[in-house]
Amino acid sequence: MSTPAVPRQGIAGEAIRIDSHLAGSAERSLADDVLDGLTRPFKELPPKHFYDARGAELFDQICELPEYYPTRCERTILAERAEELAELTGAVELVELGSGTAAKTRVLLDALSAAGTLERYVPVDVTETMVRDCAEALTSEYPGLRVHGVIGDFERHLQHLPQAIGPRIIAFLGGTIGNFPPGSRRRLLRGIARMLGGDDHLLMGTDLVKDPRVLVAAYDDAQGVTAEFNRNVLLVLNRELRADFDPQDFDHVALFDTEHEWIEMRLRARREHTVLVRDLDLAVHFDEGEELRTEISAKFTPARLEGDLAAAGLDLASWLTDPDELFALTLSRRSSL
Ligand code: AVJ
Repeated sequence: MSTPAVPRQGIAGEAIRIDSHLAGSAERSLADDVLDGLTRPFKELPPKHFYDARGAELFDQICELPEYYPTRCERTILAERAEELAELTGAVELVELGSGTAAKTRVLLDALSAAGTLERYVPVDVTETMVRDCAEALTSEYPGLRVHGVIGDFERHLQHLPQAIGPRIIAFLGGTIGNFPPGSRRRLLRGIARMLGGDDHLLMGTDLVKDPRVLVAAYDDAQGVTAEFNRNVLLVLNRELRADFDPQDFDHVALFDTEHEWIEMRLRARREHTVLVRDLDLAVHFDEGEELRTEISAKFTPARLEGDLAAAGLDLASWLTDPDELFALTLSRRSSL
């Protein structure tokens, strides 16, 4: 299985290549989402707009909070099982959807590198600086590694992934799949399944159903970091669309919806007021106590997860969890047709 790790340079000698598929469409999608989401009877914004520079920084802080267990659990599972994953998959490349700062990526890259198979890392993220920075950092940390970054939205740009160069792991970590409601979740998983060749694996992180008190605490921490993260989306709208939200007009709300088995984050207006979104010529009225939903974060049971995978044409190959079974990493393959 293992061949000696021979550092290899890209054929063309270039260790880094970066393609961008956004070109203005990121701003368009924010405008569309705001127009769509803030003119409904139940106001809603998709969570992907949390992650400007400040939002990404706040999210990194969330990951270190005592109440926010998912990151720690996933890191533990990866640390303990990365070697096994490298062996099971024989992957020569790692594709990471929503790579962010690539904090957990190194554990996998280390394992593939130790197995002697690692050739390429393909980070996919909407944030250009994150893709560029991690490409620079990883090519210097892993001599011979090629990085082909894709700046894009994994809901829309999966078809632009580079051609596989051998068995690959497509990693979709952190529990981000939970941000998608059931319909778009299955659409996204089907899209990913279609990307998988016969030798490829999807490695996905999912948060599991547990005591609602533990869940709610993870999204309503004592230090108020999550509250600030939640309100930060209003500052994104102020900056990008010249809106005039005052974040102090809103309370942070986190609740567990037991029927849907998902966490919801909302912003609740403290007083009746009207916000102006100047770039859209849009006035948005809030009643006192009215709520704007900013995120759902679905929690899974093994049965529900397997159902979603199967519906997308994926077969579960391994189920990896932490000792307390708070979080799961699953390895799946495309179902044989
Ligand atoms: C990055 C989507 C996995 O849902 O737990 C953390 C985002 N929101 N705290 C999650 C988040 C509030 C996080 N994901």
